[in-house]
Amino acid sequence: MKHLKFFTPLSLLPSIASATLSCTPSAFQAHLPSNAIVAFTRSVPNNGTFEVPTSNIAYPTSPEGLPALCAIQINVTRSPESSFSFGLFLPQDWNSRFLAVGNGGFAGGINYLDMAAGAGYGFATMSTDTGHNSTSGDLSWAFEAEERRVDFGWRAMHESVVLAKQVTQAFYGGEAEWSYYSGCSTGGRQGLKEVQMFPEDFDGVLAGAPAWWTTHLQTWTIRVALHNLPVDAEWHIPAELFPVVEAEVLKQCDGEDGLVDGVIMGPRRCDFFAEALLCGPDVVNQTTAGCLTAPQIGTLEKIHSDYVDVNQTFVFPRLELGSESQWSVLLGASTPSTLGYEYPQYFLDLGPNWDFYNFNYSIVELADRTDPGNCNADDFDLRQFRARGGKLLTYHGASDALISTGSSSYFYRSVLKTLGSRGIDLDPFYRHFLVPGMQHCSGTSESMNAPWYFAGAGQAGTLSSRPGSVHSTPGFEDGEHDALIALMGWTEKGLAPEFLVATKWRNDTLVDEVWRQRKICPYPRRARFVGGGADPDVAGSWRCEGLYDMVAQ
Ligand SMILES: *[C@@H]1O[C@H](CO)[C@@H](O)[C@H](O)[C@H]1NC(C)=O
Ligand SMILES: *[C@@H]1O[C@H](CO)[C@@H](O)[C@H](O)[C@H]1NC(C)=O
Ligand SMILES: *[C@@H]1O[C@H](CO)[C@@H](O)[C@H](O)[C@H]1NC(C)=O
Ligand SMILES: *[C@@H]1O[C@H](CO)[C@@H](O)[C@H](O)[C@H]1NC(C)=O
Ligand SMILES: *[C@@H]1O[C@H](CO)[C@@H](O)[C@H](O)[C@H]1NC(C)=O
Ligand SMILES: *[C@@H]1O[C@H](CO)[C@@H](O)[C@H](O)[C@H]1NC(C)=O
Ligand SMILES: *[C@@H]1O[C@H](CO)[C@@H](O)[C@H](O)[C@H]1NC(C)=O
Repeated sequence: MKHLKFFTPLSLLPSIASATLSCTPSAFQAHLPSNAIVAFTRSVPNNGTFEVPTSNIAYPTSPEGLPALCAIQINVTRSPESSFSFGLFLPQDWNSRFLAVGNGGFAGGINYLDMAAGAGYGFATMSTDTGHNSTSGDLSWAFEAEERRVDFGWRAMHESVVLAKQVTQAFYGGEAEWSYYSGCSTGGRQGLKEVQMFPEDFDGVLAGAPAWWTTHLQTWTIRVALHNLPVDAEWHIPAELFPVVEAEVLKQCDGEDGLVDGVIMGPRRCDFFAEALLCGPDVVNQTTAGCLTAPQIGTLEKIHSDYVDVNQTFVFPRLELGSESQWSVLLGASTPSTLGYEYPQYFLDLGPNWDFYNFNYSIVELADRTDPGNCNADDFDLRQFRARGGKLLTYHGASDALISTGSSSYFYRSVLKTLGSRGIDLDPFYRHFLVPGMQHCSGTSESMNAPWYFAGAGQAGTLSSRPGSVHSTPGFEDGEHDALIALMGWTEKGLAPEFLVATKWRNDTLVDEVWRQRKICPYPRRARFVGGGADPDVAGSWRCEGLYDMVAQ
């Protein structure tokens, strides 16, 4: 098996040397139930490429530089209304472990690129198409199709996991010793859903920026966009002014932590004075002047405020100060994102003619009453997962402008209220990490250049000009710099992560020279610069401290 470095050396698991099945459809078919068929198998040589079928429109990228493995896709038909497919990479050099990876948005497709990162560690790695075929921003497949929504909500993942584990066992002639999950965004939601509904499926779950509160997230996505619409309104802030806002936010909030380095470490501790952006009377070009009109400042304040509706009901947290570099996604067009307005259309069955300008709180109420597909991962009672020895590691970028950072903190605090009142401490099994300056799941603004890479879900796929050829944290493949290895060390050896180290290269695509590394801390602790002439770009110059109210809402 492959050697994996934890904080301390890991004693090797018994190695199951080689595959007992050949990589052919008939060999696998014999181990499958009658409603499951092998769509194809492919033997990929070491340093080879897996050619993704062109029909897999949600994840078209073919991963390169793979370890030698057997790739297989299996189609399962449940009923005339319900079917799903999953892909599985079975590396020759197996680490005796199973890994499932997740999806993004409403994508219906097999995430072969994230599977490649998993195979790089030696995991038998699985991804499901969630039971439909679409790109991430297309929800039309869900219209009046509750069975498909349920497959998307939780069923395709769980049933794919169960079957993929059986296939893995048949292939290697022995069960996986440990099972893991890694996903971000919808993938984060899928991980939490598994923890809540099927706590036996995984020993350890890594869930990033989880889209866990579907009924509120999708409706807020409409609400927040409407603040900036229509585009010809005097209060509309055009996307070309978002960098102007970001620059002012950085100017006011960067130094709050005592260090002016471009990175806002605590957006909620900044008392932002938006009126500093107000245009004077003679401005002809706002972009060059770098200013906002009074009505635009009103819009800015709404975007930076929690969504609270009828009777002071909290619906969804704000976009944080410092998230502006990613605002174009939800706020930069002449309509809200399809991730928002197609939800009432195709999940709430209001139909394609439903007009997002008719949005009001009754839509949130309808969503909460019906929760189509049972997508919400809102069962905060994680006692079963804890009791079976499960470990949950979540994270969220503080500059995420697709899913508000505060929604993960809200989830954490809800679990804390549910279990803390029963005398259960979360620290031994559930830790949440806030990542200052990280956008949605990966990346950082060019003005901040915050360290953001720690081998979270989907991150490795953004590195390298040869997609899929990178896994873990190049040069730092250990339990400090790689959240998945940290999770394994915690699950298998009880090495609870006191911090993680995030990395930023000069050019993240090239994985060239390490520019910055910084500790990220378990919420509500935060990273503090030690000062005294230390180099802020070195992780050792930061320590986790405090019980800070970083994102209280
Ligand atoms: C398996 O499912 C995929 C995706 O739905 C489909 O394109 C393919 O034709 C199916 N293969 C078989 C053998 O049924
Ligand atoms: C892997 O394949 C790439 C592209 O074919 C090639 O450039 C590279 O040298 C190969 N690496 C090894 C270690 O064989
Ligand atoms: C998914 O739909 C597209 C058309 O939108 C089609 O080209 C593709 O073959 C379909 N893929 C599968 C797996 O059915
Ligand atoms: C304002 O200036 C910017 C930057 O020079 C330019 O790109 C933009 O077109 C100008 N806008 C107007 C309305 O003239
Ligand atoms: C708001 O509160 C009033 C008074 O308690 C109640 O009658 C009404 O139903 C509430 N509305 C909503 C949407 O909860
Ligand atoms: C919400 O919108 C619907 C449809 O436009 C309308 O019938 C209803 O009265 C509105 N409800 C509220 C609380 O404004
Ligand atoms: C990083 O390198 C890639 C590939 O050479 C290049 O396309 C990209 O512009 C570079 N990015 C930055 C921020 O320099």
